[in-house]
Amino acid sequence: MLDLRLTRQLRTEGTLALPVAPGNGTLSQDAPPEATDDRGRLVCGGGLTEAELGEVDAFVRDIDHPGTAGTTHLLPRPTRQPSRLLLVGIGDGDEAGWRSAGAALALSARRDEACTVAMPGDAAPAAVRGISEGIWLASYRYRLGGDDPDRDPKLREVSLAFPGDDQTEADLDPMAGAAEALATAKAVAEATCFARDLTNTPSNIKNPAWFAERVVEAAGATPYLAVEVRDPAWLADQGFTALLSVGRASNHQPRLVRLAWAPPGATRHVVLVGKGITFDTGGIVLKPRDAMKLMRKDMGAAAAVAAAVLGAAALRLPVRVTALTPLAENAIGADAYRPGDVVRHVGGLTSEVLDTDAEGRLVLADALSYASRSLEPDVLVDLGTLTGAQHVALGRRTAALFSEDDTLASGLADAATAAGEFVWRMPLVDEYAEELRSDIADIANIASSSGGGAVTAALYLREFTGSARSRWAHLDMSAPAWSEAASAELTKGATGWGVRTLLRWLSGLAGR
Ligand code: BES
Ligand code: MN
Ligand code: ZN
Repeated sequence: MLDLRLTRQLRTEGTLALPVAPGNGTLSQDAPPEATDDRGRLVCGGGLTEAELGEVDAFVRDIDHPGTAGTTHLLPRPTRQPSRLLLVGIGDGDEAGWRSAGAALALSARRDEACTVAMPGDAAPAAVRGISEGIWLASYRYRLGGDDPDRDPKLREVSLAFPGDDQTEADLDPMAGAAEALATAKAVAEATCFARDLTNTPSNIKNPAWFAERVVEAAGATPYLAVEVRDPAWLADQGFTALLSVGRASNHQPRLVRLAWAPPGATRHVVLVGKGITFDTGGIVLKPRDAMKLMRKDMGAAAAVAAAVLGAAALRLPVRVTALTPLAENAIGADAYRPGDVVRHVGGLTSEVLDTDAEGRLVLADALSYASRSLEPDVLVDLGTLTGAQHVALGRRTAALFSEDDTLASGLADAATAAGEFVWRMPLVDEYAEELRSDIADIANIASSSGGGAVTAALYLREFTGSARSRWAHLDMSAPAWSEAASAELTKGATGWGVRTLLRWLSGLAGR
C-alpha cells in the first residue's frame, strides 16, 4: 500500500489536490452574482496566493466544476509549482464523498510519484478516513506478471496537508483525531486488500491448504489471535462429511480454518462463517465455460471473514470474533460426489445432493452446525458467493441479507451503507421451505421449483443454525465479490466485499 501521511507542509512540487464542493458561491467574496449558482466552490486554498486562487476560481467557473463526489479536473501549470492542480469533488463532504474523492484522486494522480491534498483545517476525522480508504482501495493492484510500465501506478506517496504550523504543540492536537482515522482506514484497507489478494489468486495456485497457510502467515504471532487449521482426518472425526464429499474429487483436500481474536475482557462472541470453495467447476453437474471461468472467486467469503478477524485484531476491537472457513475445491473426477448422493452433516442432519453445483450451502451447513454446537456464538453470521440468483435479484453491487433478527439485520445494513458497501434485506419465506423436502434425507440441497434461488438457499442454511437461529444472519455476496471494471474505490476483479461491512459492524458492537 502506498505511503499516506498527515502533514502541515504543502509540497511545492508535483500535484496539489484541492477539494471542491457543490453549491453556490465561489472562493472570492465579491464574485459576480451570475457566477454563484450551482457550480463548485473551493473548500480550501491549499496555501496558494490570492492571485493564484483567483486563477483557480476562474478555472472552476470556466469548466463548470460541479463539485460532485469523485469529479476531477486537472489544471496544468507547467512553469510553476505546484505544477498541477487537481480539483476533486467531495460532494456532501461526508465520509462517502471524501471516499469517492480519494478514489478519483488515486486514479487521476497515478502518473505522479507524490501528491499533496489540501485538507480543510476543520476536516472531520470521517473526511480523513474516507479519503484515505478511497486512495488505498483504488490504488490496489494484483499482478502476477512482470511490471507493466504503461499501466502500473507510479503514485507512492500522498500527503494530507492541514493548514497550520508544525512547530507549535497546540497546533498538533487537532491532528490526533485525524491520525486515529488514518490508522483505522489503514487497518480496514489492508484487510480488504488481503481478501482481494486471496480472491484474485488463480486456482492453480490457491487450494484449501494454500489458503490456510496464507491465513496462518497473516496471523503471525499476534497476541490474543489464535489460528487452527483442521485437516481431513479431523474433519472426518468431527462429522464434516458434506465438506469432505464436496472436496473429494480434488487432489487438494478440504481444510477448515478457525481464526479467533479474543482480547482480554471481551465477552460477546461473534462467529463469522465464510464459504471457501477455491474453485467451483460445478462438479458432475459441470458448469459451462462462461459460468466457470471466474470461479476462483468462490472463496471470496472465506477471504472476507478471515480478513475481518485480522482487521479486528489490527484495530484491537474489544469484541471476541471467530472466523470459520470451510475450504474445498469442487472438482470433477472419478471419485466425485454425485447427484442423488446423501451426505451427513455435523450434528447428524442429512442432505440429498440434487445438484453438485449447489456445493456452497453444503459446506456452510457443516460449518454453521459446528459453530452453533461447539463455539457458543452470541451472534452467527455467514457469508457466501452462493447463488447466481442473488445477482438476478439485486444486481452487481448489492448483497442479499437474510435474518430473523431485525436488530441484527439493520445493524449489518447500516454498517454496510456507512462502509460504502450495500446490502438489501430479503425475506425468509417460510412457505418456500417445503420446496426443499427430500424423500430420503432431512433436506434437499436445491428447491423443487424455480425462482427465489437466493431465498431458498438461505432457507436451506437456516436449518443448520440450531440454537443460534434467532441470532443468525446470512449474506449472499455472489455478485458484489467481483467487479467487471474499476469503479471508484473498487478495482477490476476481487472487491474484498464484506470486509468493510463486517469491520464497521464489529466496531459498532465494540462501541466505537
Ligand atoms: N458459486 C456459485 C454461485 C455463483 C454464481 C457465485 C455466479 C458467483 C457468481 C454456486 O456454487 C452455484 O453454483 N450456485 C448455483 C445454485 C443452483 C445450482 C441452485 C447457481 O446459482 O446456479
Ligand atoms: Mn456451485
Ligand atoms: Zn460455488
